[in-house]
Amino acid sequence: MSERILGIETSCDETAAAVVRGGREVLSSVVHSQIDEHAEYGGVVPEIAGRSHLRELTGIADRALEEAGLGLEDLDAVAVTTRPGLIGSLLVGVSTAKGLAYGTGLPLVGVHHIEAHVYAATMECESAPYPCIALVVSGGHTALYRAESPLEHTLLASTLDDAAGEAFDKVAWLLGLPYPGGPSVSALAREGRPDAIAFPRYRAADGGGGFSFSGLKTAVLYHLRGGDALAPTPPPERITDRADVAASFEQAVVDSLVDETFRAAGREELDTILVAGGVACNRRLREEMTRRGSEDGRTVVFPSPAYCTDNAVMIAGLGTELLRAGRTCGWDLDASPR
Ligand code: KG4
Ligand code: ZN
Repeated sequence: MSERILGIETSCDETAAAVVRGGREVLSSVVHSQIDEHAEYGGVVPEIAGRSHLRELTGIADRALEEAGLGLEDLDAVAVTTRPGLIGSLLVGVSTAKGLAYGTGLPLVGVHHIEAHVYAATMECESAPYPCIALVVSGGHTALYRAESPLEHTLLASTLDDAAGEAFDKVAWLLGLPYPGGPSVSALAREGRPDAIAFPRYRAADGGGGFSFSGLKTAVLYHLRGGDALAPTPPPERITDRADVAASFEQAVVDSLVDETFRAAGREELDTILVAGGVACNRRLREEMTRRGSEDGRTVVFPSPAYCTDNAVMIAGLGTELLRAGRTCGWDLDASPR
């Protein structure tokens, strides 16, 4: 089947629209990043994000249709992210998708953002990778799933506090590096030693699972204060071991993600691991996951970087699967931050 679906994504700080045919073939993908609007604050400001989506979305959707060479009348459905995310941002996407579907009579499909990140990691696979373990690591989420199919996910573990990407963003701020922190910390880490500083790795007390990055972030802060929790935080230009801090911090995050994911794969007896979300762009994470996979005899799949970070291709892709399963939505479709 070759349904053509328009996907809309506005859950955080990317305004994105894409047209996908048959759930896999990308006819167009337009992503407008708001990075410049949030950079001076060191993180995403919800009100700025919502207003920016409101300004940009119709133009971005028009461009996605134009680049696909299609009009609204050529589509088979409109899919939109409904959760989780910033509520003011989600509402812009959902309202726009409703308006488009209402005006054209097309079916409306609501898509879960994290499940769509998992779907993104499957779109470039030659054969379906299910059942598998899926790790989603982004600025807002760090979660581990058992996935039976594109539509069946069981949550195995998630973060108790910060998301991995959020930790990168906060450490970047401490080191005086630009937002978003992932790429800038990772670039500086290349010049440092990953074993220079013994930052802690979280392990659940009862042998249970889960991730935690707030203790690591605090350990970085205390290290910068010379081990004195109450000392002032030095300005970035006075930090003499910035590259070592970046490399050792990055290594600690990667170790936690890799260990927990492979423990889950062992427990669940699954040989395929998908890694998705913005942090899946991280070079060290990709290398370590792949190395552990070959040691353990498990296949590790990463999407290309453009499909790791937020995009609408994954929304249109998973939207196609939902449409095929008859899971369309009514006009009461709601958005949710959770
Ligand atoms: O998936 P995404 O685009 O948005 C959310 O759904 O949150 O992920 C954005 C996050 C940011 O926190 C950013 O710092 C992080 O992904 N990120 C990275 C890298 N590239 C982006 N983290 C580590 N290393 C990278 N190379
Ligand atoms: Zn995301």
